[in-house]
Amino acid sequence: APAGFRFTCYYYRGAYYKAFWADPPNCAVGEPRQTFLGERYFPLVMQNIHRYFFYAAGVVLLFLWVDAFKALKFEDGYGVGVGTLVLFANAALLSLYSLSCHSFRHLIGGNLNVFSKCPTRFMLWSKATALNEHHMLWAWVSLFGVALADLYIFLLARGVITDVRLI
Ligand code: FES
Repeated sequence: APAGFRFTCYYYRGAYYKAFWADPPNCAVGEPRQTFLGERYFPLVMQNIHRYFFYAAGVVLLFLWVDAFKALKFEDGYGVGVGTLVLFANAALLSLYSLSCHSFRHLIGGNLNVFSKCPTRFMLWSKATALNEHHMLWAWVSLFGVALADLYIFLLARGVITDVRLI
């Protein structure tokens, strides 16, 4: 689910279309084909599955938050270690990435015709829009965040490092 969510992300699509398919070849350069099919036709229409990956990745994200809260519990009671901070930072960055998703923005306000009739949804849509403006940033920061969190947990599990207790 997380891999599908990333692969079909609007931002990553734009990046890998340009980087690996040279499509578009460059700014203000015409298409090398007679007909531009875009994402309205097979196979790229399959990218519409992104909204469903959003739901599936949301379930995974819930488990990451549960894990982060579990990391507050130590054998002698509650506390905070470096690992606790790593897990909370990872869940927070992935949440910012998910909440800035174009599909989420559409879900909470994209289908409204009159915002004044739904002030709460308008407020949420405005906040999602503000996050969405930095979607590229959240995409990269959360990607490195999840890789570093995984590495930290892997090294802990292997006994290479020991978690430092802060509180
Ligand atoms: Fe990037 Fe949805 S558009 S995660």
